[in-house]
Amino acid sequence: MLATNVLETIGHTPLVRLKSFEPEDGAEIWIKLEGGNPTGSYKDRMAISVLGRALERGDVRPGDRIVEYTGGSTGTALAFVASVLGLKFTAVFSDAFSDSKRKAMEAFGAEVLVEGSDGGAITPELIQRMKKRALALAGEPGSYYADQFGSPDVRQGYEPMGQEIAADLDGGIDVLVSAVGTGAALMGMADALRKEGLEPHVIALEPLQSPLLTTGKGGPHRVEGVGVGFEPPFLDRSLLHDIRAIDQDLGFDMCRRLASEAGIFCGGSTGLNVVAAIELAREAGKGKRVVTIGCDNGSKYLGGHIYR
Ligand SMILES: Cc1ncc(COP(=O)(O)O)c(C=O)c1O
Repeated sequence: MLATNVLETIGHTPLVRLKSFEPEDGAEIWIKLEGGNPTGSYKDRMAISVLGRALERGDVRPGDRIVEYTGGSTGTALAFVASVLGLKFTAVFSDAFSDSKRKAMEAFGAEVLVEGSDGGAITPELIQRMKKRALALAGEPGSYYADQFGSPDVRQGYEPMGQEIAADLDGGIDVLVSAVGTGAALMGMADALRKEGLEPHVIALEPLQSPLLTTGKGGPHRVEGVGVGFEPPFLDRSLLHDIRAIDQDLGFDMCRRLASEAGIFCGGSTGLNVVAAIELAREAGKGKRVVTIGCDNGSKYLGGHIYR
């Protein structure tokens, strides 16, 4: 493709059939590979939606400062889009998250403010402290709070994913399944599919180790980006057919299998997605189609525990 601006390269990601992972006599499994976005995750879609719409509405002007608290992927996407749109970006970050994510944000010209953690632990107290600092900065003149957990522009930013799936499969989708953090990606896709007249079963996933949505009680887990420990702000339970808790260890095993057997290199949330997609393909049976998401690129995780 030719692009006059790098922002045009966000989205239009491939939908790949995972034939070798399909159960016998089960449904087809398709995975939408979002790791090909410029910063390696579907968060780029959210960042262009939030910042592009804020500029269009006149809520921000070139030269203004965007503020967000972030563990890294959202911050990297916002830093990238802000740099192209002539906006400044300040991330409230912490040393509890991977240092490579700090470097990525700084590479895109962001200011990164680091809140100290207690020995690298991600705790509710730390998150609240980060949020408080971000809100205080966002209240200063010429500043704008991106609000990844509240802005309607976040959910809308994922509608193109649903439109692309509908176009690629020519309407043939029976199940859409994805693990949820804020819930925006799954709900945005479902919104777009509904607008196209498609009503697949929509299934949300969480780590079994933090089964807040399925049992009401969260817990510590290691799947980055999902299982946020509170009700995902964008999750509309009335549009869901089911919520399932998937064992993170099965998910991490699946990440390694996907890379070594299918050349699909992703993070832990994608591992959960594919474990569940196989289960759902078995239940749906032949002639049906299950679609899931490869949320990001596995190279983000090379320093961590998944690819040892
Ligand atoms: C790797 C990864 N997977 C899944 C998600 C969940 O996406 P959403 O917040 O739209 O539910 C995130 C969000 O941060 C993520 O970073």
